[in-house]
Amino acid sequence: VDDSGVRHFTLTARAGTSEILPGRGTPTWGYGESMLGPTLRARRGEAVAFAIDNELPEPTSVHWHGMHVPARCDGGPHQSIEPGARWEPSWTVNQPAATLWYHPHPHGSTEKHVYRGLAGLFLVDDDTTDTLDLPKTYGLDDIPLIIQDRRFTADGALDESDPTDVGLLGDTIVTNGIAGAHLPVSTGLIRLRVLNGSSGRLYNLGFSDEREFHLIATDGGLLGEPVPLRRIQVSPGERIELVVAAGDGRAVMLRSHPIEGRGGVDRDAAGYGLEDTFDVLELRPDRELLPSRPIPPTLAAVPRLDPATAAAERSFELRWFMINGARMDMNRIDFAPVVGTTEVWTVRNVDNWPHNFHVHDVQFQIVDLDGSPPPPALAGWKDTVYTPPGTEIRLAMRFTDYTDATYPYMFHCHLLLHEDRGMMGQFLVL
Ligand code: C2O
Ligand code: CU
Ligand code: CU
Repeated sequence: VDDSGVRHFTLTARAGTSEILPGRGTPTWGYGESMLGPTLRARRGEAVAFAIDNELPEPTSVHWHGMHVPARCDGGPHQSIEPGARWEPSWTVNQPAATLWYHPHPHGSTEKHVYRGLAGLFLVDDDTTDTLDLPKTYGLDDIPLIIQDRRFTADGALDESDPTDVGLLGDTIVTNGIAGAHLPVSTGLIRLRVLNGSSGRLYNLGFSDEREFHLIATDGGLLGEPVPLRRIQVSPGERIELVVAAGDGRAVMLRSHPIEGRGGVDRDAAGYGLEDTFDVLELRPDRELLPSRPIPPTLAAVPRLDPATAAAERSFELRWFMINGARMDMNRIDFAPVVGTTEVWTVRNVDNWPHNFHVHDVQFQIVDLDGSPPPPALAGWKDTVYTPPGTEIRLAMRFTDYTDATYPYMFHCHLLLHEDRGMMGQFLVL
């Protein structure tokens, strides 16, 4: 933090070698690290400034997924960083506490850049975080979990061949950069901040003994109140925060189970990894645990956006690597919301494939799914939502500030192969 209160960060995208599999070296990319990147952290109201160097052999970019930033700082395909170049975006953080993330967004190569290891978390804190009695000691009872799937060649390199229709599906789960991860637990309650950092795999997370946990936050921040669950589905790009009791001294596995109802995808559609089971992280509690305070019954205020006040309604049909029949074109602006207004967007997946839908710049609220209000786990702030085949989802969002007549924001499917193949469009905020 400098004299004028600006928090400075430096990141260097570079190639390295990581020990993902025990005793083997895998060539990977990372931000400063050989793989992944540091967890960044800033407070609401704080000014942040970045110096990002690209030491990779290809152009890349760094997008702040979930963060409300000026469009020229968004790090999408229009903010390419050439090899050897530096990019220096800066803005003031202004949104509720949340678990966000950052990752490359170069047009057409996002999947491979993320697959090679470029991703990191960006945590936002605010006054609510200070006062709420939640586990919040980073690395002790507040644990970041970046969940990804990878395939390896016989010599231990990342296998980038043979993407399925949903992208590169791995047979090995890599948690925070290692296969077979475990976590020593020393507190009664443990908070897990989970990012699905995979290209195309859905996870259906739960514990091996079916114990209950509480969902406390989704993409854009804390929920109104904790939601008790035994399973939760997370699609690529989505984040959840959950709190679970460490238990009685016995190890328990955080596991991904087959996706409920195949995520709405017909049985005759195969090869999307929907029936797979994977161990993600083993929790190994100490025999004596430090006491934790119980989870507060209420968390954050989540004021509802009123869809009746929408200044514009738009609809989006997801089909065959296209949105509304068009593929991404860097030179086409699809529409331009007016600053200070609320909009309602209706999204429909008309394929028999998994897709999801991500919007830059804003956090949205799900108004309804096929006409019904969202379940409690989907009632908070979101920036990415799973769109089951045949389902109509209405989203409400508000464009509060940051107009720019030149640089657009993106909306797209966050299955990264789909995004790279063109399931993406652009909007200006005017
Ligand atoms: Cu996480 Cu446009 O992306
Ligand atoms: Cu994004
Ligand atoms: Cu898709």
